[in-house]
Amino acid sequence: MIDFTVPSAVVDNIRRVAAARKNMVVGTTGWYDGMTEAKQLVGAAGTGFIYSSNFSVGVNVFYRVVEAAAKLMNKVPDYDVFGYELHHNQKLDSPSGTAKSIAEILVKNISRKKQVQYDKLDRKINPEELHFASVRAGWIPGTHIVGFDSEADTIELKHTARSRAGFALGAVMAAEWLRGKKGFFTMNDFISDFFR
Ligand SMILES: NC(=O)c1ccc[n+]([C@@H]2O[C@H](COP(=O)([O-])OP(=O)(O)OC[C@H]3O[C@@H](n4cnc5c(N)ncnc54)[C@H](OP(=O)(O)O)[C@@H]3O)[C@@H](O)[C@H]2O)c1
Repeated sequence: MIDFTVPSAVVDNIRRVAAARKNMVVGTTGWYDGMTEAKQLVGAAGTGFIYSSNFSVGVNVFYRVVEAAAKLMNKVPDYDVFGYELHHNQKLDSPSGTAKSIAEILVKNISRKKQVQYDKLDRKINPEELHFASVRAGWIPGTHIVGFDSEADTIELKHTARSRAGFALGAVMAAEWLRGKKGFFTMNDFISDFFR
């Protein structure tokens, strides 16, 4: 069973699917207050469960590319670090969950960046702050950019979603991976297995 619904429906859906002893993929976001209950339900049913705020295989590969770049840039202090994301004008939240994940990877791996600044600034940015901005316009399905800027040059890493098809494909691939498995997994487990 694959769930991309609304946060308020997720835990009830998990209960029903666990009662039917079926494995489940959850792509819905914003239900994470129900995580403890979800783990109990899946554990008691002895079924398999995987969730992620981003099932795009490309984005999950991008996370690893960003991590590798961040580890290199940790040793090259000449470069400042930044990020920005663009989404369609119907999106309810900003920054995107994907932007938060990317920013966490950068702060974790670049010791000179200590916290993320998502908001607009009415002052000079502090060197230890990572600025990650959001733009909302038109029909953009989702674009995330990470930049490293020195006096000499700029390096940019960019992921551009063309449509929501990539999320659906990744959810189906995760469902296939989950077949025959028991336990509570995230997309990271699936991707780690994929590259093993
Ligand atoms: N993890 C990822 O990769 C990923 C990617 C994209 C989106 N998402 C998340 O997935 C969720 C859905 O996004 P979306 O853009 O697909 O939204 P959407 O286009 O509004 O689709 C939601 C669907 O859920 C159905 N639904 C609503 N309440 C339900 C319930 N109680 N039980 C069963 N079905 C119900 C809706 O049916 P009706 O139209 O009949 O109400 C609709 O078909 C959001 O939380 C979003 O953040 C995650």
